Amino acid sequence: MGSGKSTAAGEVAQALGAQALDSDRLLEERLGHSLAEEFTSNGEAVFREREEALVLELLGAAGPGSVLALGGGSVLSERVRAAAGKHLVVFLDIDAQVAWERVRAEGLERPLARNKLDFLELHAARQPLYEELADATLPAGQPGVAARALPALSMLSQMPEGTRMLWASAASGAYPVLVGRGLLRDDTPSRELSAWSLSSRASPRTRARSRAFCVSDKTVSALYGQRLGELAATVVIAPGEEHKTLASAEHIWRELARAGMSRADHLVALGGGVVGDLAGFCAATYQRGVPVVHLPTTVVAQVDSAYGGKTGVDLPEAKNYVGAYHQPAAVLADPDALETLPTGEFNAGWVEVLKTALIAGGRLWRAVATGEKLSERMIYDCAHTKLAIVAEDERDAGRRQVLNLGHTIGHAIEAATGYRRYRHGEAVGLGLLVALELSGQRDLREQIRGLLEEHELPVGLEDASVAEVLDAAAFDKKRLSRSTGDGLVPALVLVEAPGAVKFGCEVPEDDLRRAVKELVSA
Ligand SMILES: NC(=O)c1ccc[n+]([C@@H]2O[C@H](COP(=O)([O-])OP(=O)(O)OC[C@H]3O[C@@H](n4cnc5c(N)ncnc54)[C@H](O)[C@@H]3O)[C@@H](O)[C@H]2O)c1
Repeated sequence: MGSGKSTAAGEVAQALGAQALDSDRLLEERLGHSLAEEFTSNGEAVFREREEALVLELLGAAGPGSVLALGGGSVLSERVRAAAGKHLVVFLDIDAQVAWERVRAEGLERPLARNKLDFLELHAARQPLYEELADATLPAGQPGVAARALPALSMLSQMPEGTRMLWASAASGAYPVLVGRGLLRDDTPSRELSAWSLSSRASPRTRARSRAFCVSDKTVSALYGQRLGELAATVVIAPGEEHKTLASAEHIWRELARAGMSRADHLVALGGGVVGDLAGFCAATYQRGVPVVHLPTTVVAQVDSAYGGKTGVDLPEAKNYVGAYHQPAAVLADPDALETLPTGEFNAGWVEVLKTALIAGGRLWRAVATGEKLSERMIYDCAHTKLAIVAEDERDAGRRQVLNLGHTIGHAIEAATGYRRYRHGEAVGLGLLVALELSGQRDLREQIRGLLEEHELPVGLEDASVAEVLDAAAFDKKRLSRSTGDGLVPALVLVEAPGAVKFGCEVPEDDLRRAVKELVSA
């Protein structure tokens, strides 16, 4: 309710030159009175029976190009869900509170929207059903979004079975995100992949002309490079964080220039977070900006770094010190690519899943807390969580800071140990333990510690003293507060419970010292 299904269906139908059907309106016509009256006279059970019969009829008759807006409660029926599953199902995702306000503002008589608490409960109960059924999730309340996403939606049926799509939107751009096993298979035609990747922005003519130029690292290129088929050129860098530099960026820019890349073409970033950040930065700056498609191949990249548009390189003085915001044209994540990832890399990357689960709570947290193996659903949920935050605050002015959970101290630990002792994810895991100690969440801290150990991740600080970590944290804080330029002092992200995190928490130095010390006595 309140997500704008009828409007979105109308927009899509118009773009397709078809007519949208609305099950609620058709049911009212068939009954000869309003749904509210039907509820009052015959009760919900009878209403649901009639609704099910009509919706099954509509879904049975629907062919290619048909557009149906389904009543929000119709998917409570298992038979409706089975029938809808044969079609492309789009879920318009709306925040419960916003939905309530919109429904009230409409002033329509809706039998299931009379009381706020009941409404919010209903929303929470139905949400998992919608998510389960949806092939694609679009943000509600953005006029025209369904029509803009239409080319990507149309390509979705040609993607490997089980592929799901999210529509990412941020202040500076919107793009499709696909998560599906087999997206990087040899038989996914590269021209289609390229065309698809630009589908949300470019006209069909531009898409047909745009050539793909790839940036990858040596390891990933050897494993997956040939799967991309026809590419205008590939620039390969050496793997590792030490190559996320301006020198590598210059090498890439110059290779692209030599290969004749123009603004009509696009870049494909094939690899982990290092390749993604570097290629994204090159795409943001080459000829003042060309589109970039991310094909992330590590856990870090598939659950975090490929989304949100932060790109950049390291300086010898500090990590990620030079960069730009440049939203991707598309992200295609194939979880099968993670099978070749070394265990140590996989586990370190899994810490970003843990962090995201603490921020998101709900289904993602339950999956992580019960030790579920990383699934495409969890990757999708991580992407969804991050994208919802970025949609609210692309440039880190507020809520996006929650994504730094565990990172402030994690970075300090990395710096204090000279970036050699711990992988980034391992240091973030230690940072999470410090954040939970400071949050006064002893039980949760123990739970997280257990999960880290299960993933063979470190739970104690080695090769650096508490003072060295505090010094590094103080340095980080100084450089960050100066860089914001508005007197804002960035502080820690703390956890009240899974799903409830607060950013900007000032912490007394003594408390911080004690919390870091806990890592030494671990
Ligand atoms: N932009 C953002 O929002 C953001 C967010 C988080 C992290 N990051 C950045 O991400 C980087 C870390 O990313 P990462 O952990 O992916 O590191 P990475 O890109 O260095 O990849 C790790 C290693 O795995 C190899 N590899 C990648 N995919 C593989 C595969 N499928 N099979 C086998 N080997 C594979 C790589 O060659 C590399 O040696 C850091 O630079 C960090 O700053 C950026």
